[in-house]
Amino acid sequence: MAFVQWDPAVYVRRASERARPFVELVARVGAEPEAVRSITDVGCGPGHLTVSLADRYPLARITGFDSSPAMIAEARATDRVHFAVGDATSYRPAPDTDLVVSNAVLQWIDGHPGLLGDWARQLRPDAWLAVQVPGNRDAPSHVAVRELSADPRWSDRLTGIAESGPVLDPAGYAALLTAEHCEPDAWETTYLHDLDAEGDVHPVLTWLEGTTLRPVIAALGPGDYPGFAAALTARLDADYPIGDGHVWYPFRRVFVVARKRR
Ligand SMILES: C[S@@+](CC[C@H](N)C(=O)[O-])C[C@H]1O[C@@H](n2cnc3c(N)ncnc32)[C@H](O)[C@@H]1O
Repeated sequence: MAFVQWDPAVYVRRASERARPFVELVARVGAEPEAVRSITDVGCGPGHLTVSLADRYPLARITGFDSSPAMIAEARATDRVHFAVGDATSYRPAPDTDLVVSNAVLQWIDGHPGLLGDWARQLRPDAWLAVQVPGNRDAPSHVAVRELSADPRWSDRLTGIAESGPVLDPAGYAALLTAEHCEPDAWETTYLHDLDAEGDVHPVLTWLEGTTLRPVIAALGPGDYPGFAAALTARLDADYPIGDGHVWYPFRRVFVVARKRR
């Protein structure tokens, strides 16, 4: 993955839509809240969701880390929630970790199923994993980003970089974690986001600029990104027409929560 400049201000524009999968993910963790003493949030972003874990788990020490210094600069530590810059690929759960959460991160990491398997292997019995990844690669918006990245106008800088890695289906994550002596609960949800059109920018473009387009923006820079955005907007106008000032944007996400067996 190329260097990606994350922009917390852009990311949180759709904070409530982005929060819902996190809430629904963590709700499926079956541990007694008082029994959870140590939590790691891998790829915590700006940290507001990490901090929400302190309410659900009143006795836990919580660490959120993220590879983006800009995201960590936004995160607000408390007496029980700490933040640090760090890379998920070199993370392994400590022996006392009770819960590893990773929301909308692993799709950025090549070969992430292997990494997830490593985490599961390291977990102590009765510890929990809770992972959510977007499963929207085949959506018209994401197909358009890939196809335009292959266009000769931009392909010299974009080949391979606009690709977040393929994610597994729920059954794939369930099989992976069962093989690592976990009891998985895996599912998928397609959210139908109601995006308001504000100003001239297509709302799906605004959504994509918070996440999927970060590598494209970084690679093309302010000189060439506007041309790419204009071409993408033409595709989005056709695939997600704006009616009555808003757009319905379906977004599939894949979830897996698992407890390590004794
Ligand atoms: C879509 S945001 C999700 C942030 C947060 N988990 C949330 O749910 O709001 C993806 C985050 O993954 C982080 N990220 C991407 N690759 C990473 C890696 N290898 N290690 C740690 N964080 C990573 C990005 O910096 C970004 O903050």
